[in-house]
Amino acid sequence: MHIGEMERNIFEALYDGVLIADKECRVIYINKAYTRITKVNSEDIVGRPLDIVRKGSMLSEVIKSGEKRLAARRKTDNIEYVVNMVPIIENNEIVGGISILNEINDVYKLAEELRKSNNIINELKKRVKNIGNAKYTIEDIISADPKSEHTKELTVKISEMDLNVLITGESGTGKELYAQSIHNESRRKRGPFIPVNCAVLDNNLLESELFGYEEGAFTGAKKGGKRGLFQEANGGTIFLDEISELDYRLQAKLLRVLQERTVRPVGSVVETEVDVRIIAATNKNLEALAAAGEFRQDLYYRLSVAALNIYPLRERRGDIMPLINNFLKEAEDKLKSKVDLSQEAANLLINYEWPGNVRELKNTIEFAAMMVEDGVIRSDGLPKRIQDEGLKKNMIEVRSLKEVVRQAEANEIERALLKYGDTVEGKQKVAKALGISLASLYNKIK
Ligand SMILES: Nc1ncnc2c1ncn2[C@@H]1O[C@H](COP(=O)(O)OP(=O)(O)OP(=O)(O)O)[C@@H](O)[C@H]1O
Ligand SMILES: [Mg+2]
Repeated sequence: MHIGEMERNIFEALYDGVLIADKECRVIYINKAYTRITKVNSEDIVGRPLDIVRKGSMLSEVIKSGEKRLAARRKTDNIEYVVNMVPIIENNEIVGGISILNEINDVYKLAEELRKSNNIINELKKRVKNIGNAKYTIEDIISADPKSEHTKELTVKISEMDLNVLITGESGTGKELYAQSIHNESRRKRGPFIPVNCAVLDNNLLESELFGYEEGAFTGAKKGGKRGLFQEANGGTIFLDEISELDYRLQAKLLRVLQERTVRPVGSVVETEVDVRIIAATNKNLEALAAAGEFRQDLYYRLSVAALNIYPLRERRGDIMPLINNFLKEAEDKLKSKVDLSQEAANLLINYEWPGNVRELKNTIEFAAMMVEDGVIRSDGLPKRIQDEGLKKNMIEVRSLKEVVRQAEANEIERALLKYGDTVEGKQKVAKALGISLASLYNKIK
């Protein structure tokens, strides 16, 4: 390959660095700008193999494969630059390759940072959008036990009717999962789903969050006021978790929303109409609280038009194994390696009482999977409380009722004989005290 006078003049005039190699990957030319950027001199590299004089250069790859490489980042001796590399083709044959390089200057660096920041912003935007969305659907609720199948059927029915729902169940049973599923099964599924945990904020803050406020409603109120979550949830569903934590005054305010379908922001005199479905949840016995006067009875009735009770996990043991398998699979995906469960460990998990319900099961599997060394979760890899409960259950020996009765009779006869004496006369008294015949007493002693 030959570089003519005119090409040379053009290359020398360029501000970009140029390196040309022939098809044997030997350097045949570099321009002045190349020397300026990389600090290598023409005499030192022209005529020599690229792989030796420019170690790590990707141009030889390009010449061999015939495939261009654009915007490759390179760094040698603390000088950073971007390189475009293309093969030179004559008559359908690769005759060499050309590298064109640019210093990475401040503008380039800023552009790059801008691109990174934009990526982060886009990611956050996506996440913010998801806050107003319920992500779980009824298909995500793992179940096999007949009790759960029934709960799910009921859920679907309730979802279709646009009623307020009260979900009850112990902590960790999946109330939030059901709440999201109800929203996603309902005609409101394209509307927002706004979850509010009533236990997290104190009641004054909660009031301004839920109902919004007017400008100047209280010290520290934002200029222009603030829309409340009921308004944010307009056309969709609001999920009031831990509803028992509302104080009496807020309960009254919520009751008004249910009756009038309007909200009045703090400090405002105007009522605004809202179209919101309310799903409330609690792990307390709200009915008992209402009976004891700790929760408004009228609100309780309004909220629990449709009631959905999620059973504790120990009352639907048929779900345990499918849940375990699901959480194992999730752990495998996360750890990118296979995780098995020994039969013994499975037995412990199936028989455990699960006071923390599905959440406890999920955490247990996640943790045990993370700690495995040879890919198998064994019983000694489970939390101690689970191992201990298994031991306790194993120690309880279940005897037949016949055996239990026989033992009880023997004890009682022995006590009576001690009292009345082991003589013939004594035995007569024993039989009388035990309410059996003397013959039968002799029989039993035998
Ligand atoms: N049937 C199920 N299938 C799959 N995952 C479930 C199931 N039930 C619960 N989970 C998971 O268990 C965890 C606890 O569920 P969730 O947060 O809905 O419980 P909760 O009843 O709202 O608990 P709390 O009263 O403590 O708020 C979540 O990670 C949830 O995804
Ligand atoms: Mg919850």
